[in-house]
Amino acid sequence: VTAATRSYNFGPGNPDPGVFPSRDLGAAAQRVLARVGAELAHYPEQHGLPELRALAQDRFERNHHVRPPLEHIVITNGATQGLQLCAMGLARPGDDVVLEEFEYSGTIRVFHQCGLNLVPAPLDDGGMRMDALADILERQAAIGRRPAFIYTTASYQNPTGTTQPVERRRRLLDLARRYELPIVEDDTYGDICFEPQLEPAIYSLANPGEALYIGSFSKILGPGVRLGFFIAPESITSRLLPWKLDGGTSMLSQLVAAEYFESALWEHVEEGRNAVKEKRNTLLDALESEFGGVPGMSWTRPDGGLFLWVKLPEDVNRVRLHDLATARGITYSTGQAFHALNQDVPYLRLAFGWIDKEDIPEGVRVLAECVRAAMPAGHAVGG
Ligand SMILES: Cc1ncc(COP(=O)(O)O)c(C=O)c1O
Repeated sequence: VTAATRSYNFGPGNPDPGVFPSRDLGAAAQRVLARVGAELAHYPEQHGLPELRALAQDRFERNHHVRPPLEHIVITNGATQGLQLCAMGLARPGDDVVLEEFEYSGTIRVFHQCGLNLVPAPLDDGGMRMDALADILERQAAIGRRPAFIYTTASYQNPTGTTQPVERRRRLLDLARRYELPIVEDDTYGDICFEPQLEPAIYSLANPGEALYIGSFSKILGPGVRLGFFIAPESITSRLLPWKLDGGTSMLSQLVAAEYFESALWEHVEEGRNAVKEKRNTLLDALESEFGGVPGMSWTRPDGGLFLWVKLPEDVNRVRLHDLATARGITYSTGQAFHALNQDVPYLRLAFGWIDKEDIPEGVRVLAECVRAAMPAGHAVGG
């Protein structure tokens, strides 16, 4: 393969394809269809398959040391459906929603489509800044606009890779309590942790009804299975479920995933974590050797998740960088795609789950050449 035809895909927020358990899932599908095939002749129940809900319950308890009641767990068509149900069930078109300034582009899309007005709160290395949130909530109260909810990805945020420390989560709860606003906590990456110590979910620190927790099976299995869940008490679930208008989440997907995970959940999670942790390490090393010491350039060091957020020097021509990188086979996501108000910001997101580990150093080397070529003459770039 010549250099020109090589490709380096730092684009998609997918888990490591190498650990996808095709064979074991196939065997699980055969077992489950032999056992319960005719159940698929029914529509699924609205809350989802009890066995899969129980798995979500075990998973939450193991990570966060609180066991939510089974009745509070609802299976969804990916975490995305949970986001949409919150946007439709907890808000009305025209309502404000407070969220991180840099946010998952899918969240931005869902909230926009539901007519919500996004109010961004800045982040730093510890995720959403609580001083900024306090100012925003005070300002909104002063003009009589009460946000419908606060949305946050407190752990391994997409796109920044940042995590809120526990004190910040408590402060968030205090603020939400003071203004009587529900928190929607998106924990799509919660299981992709590289350190032994997990921060407690906001949901596990909250009183019942203060927070809704969204989880996913996309990042520990694959987005193709389209399975996620949310956890909330009946008072909230009853506002969301009327909007779940899909006839139910695929029972075939639920049955196969539950059958497979019944015995393999933690082993599989561990395998996925280890694979992407190695890729993260490789990416951090490559960035250090290509970009270390370049003025104006920095990047986050995520303790989990699938993304790293790179700050570019302000004077890099970002359109030219993107064109050059594309021509050299590099795919990454622009900062603008994640800005809550669509502003063109000097950042890019590198996803490290999908790309082959072996391609990372060369990909970063080519990216560094593109960054250098997109600089005005005279700006010194190392590497
Ligand atoms: C923060 C966040 N929430 C939700 C999703 C959507 O996940 P799912 O595939 O479970 O719908 C993603 C996917 O990238 C994400 O980054």
